[in-house]
Amino acid sequence: MKETIEYIKKQIKDFTPEIGIILGSGLGDFADNLEGVRIKYSDIPGFETSTVAGHKGQLVFAQVQGKNAVIMQGRYHFYEGYHISRIVYPVKVMKKLGVKTLIITNAAGSVNKSYKAGDLMIITDHINLMGVNPLIGENDATLGDRFPDMTEIYRHALQNLAQKKCKELGIPVQKGVYAAMSGPSYETPAEINMLRIMGADAVGMSTVPEALVANYCAMEVLGISCITNSAAGVHPTRLSHAEVVETAAKVKESFKKLLVSVIKAL
Ligand code: HPA
Repeated sequence: MKETIEYIKKQIKDFTPEIGIILGSGLGDFADNLEGVRIKYSDIPGFETSTVAGHKGQLVFAQVQGKNAVIMQGRYHFYEGYHISRIVYPVKVMKKLGVKTLIITNAAGSVNKSYKAGDLMIITDHINLMGVNPLIGENDATLGDRFPDMTEIYRHALQNLAQKKCKELGIPVQKGVYAAMSGPSYETPAEINMLRIMGADAVGMSTVPEALVANYCAMEVLGISCITNSAAGVHPTRLSHAEVVETAAKVKESFKKLLVSVIKAL
């Protein structure tokens, strides 16, 4: 960690990011036109090399609406085969760099039958069904407690702010519970039924490890899902990554507008 922080600080000098943003599938270009310092994951000591196609795999340090931000263009997924501790390492790095608020975005399938592809969903809570907890292992007491509270991972104030901004911008929005599966296979219809009975509204393969760790180290979290498809079995059609990417691309512009206006109001 010391080496990671020293390396990054050498590039960003006295820039202190206060807002962290993790860009999900389809949103990766949010940071493309921002002026700032870009550092490839593959150049950072302690980071893994992201393997997901369509993700750039870099940190962008830039101002967004006059606020200092660090943006993850591409994230690590558990299904890529990394140890769960590697997935959340960048969140710990953000904390050490000074980040106080973390905005996490993702693409998700709708478990809730009233949702439509293209809706955005403000995450109110999550269910971790990845089969692992990213805090397993020795605890770093400088970051957080051994048995951290998870009562309000997704801060109500940030949820309300995002909802208000969606209303102002005329963006259709839902609020709901995100369930995380390990992937990389999509779920079966029986698994989606299970998730619905459990109380999930959306399902995806990311976000939960990062949100959990951010809350553990006392960061305020806002999570927003782009509902890219109906989950398995909701409609008779099959699921495809192409559909996920296509829907995310359609919603991208309003998603970006929302991000910008939320950041402005922080
Ligand atoms: N299931 C899991 N992850 C996803 C989905 C889905 O239906 N859509 C986008 N990410």
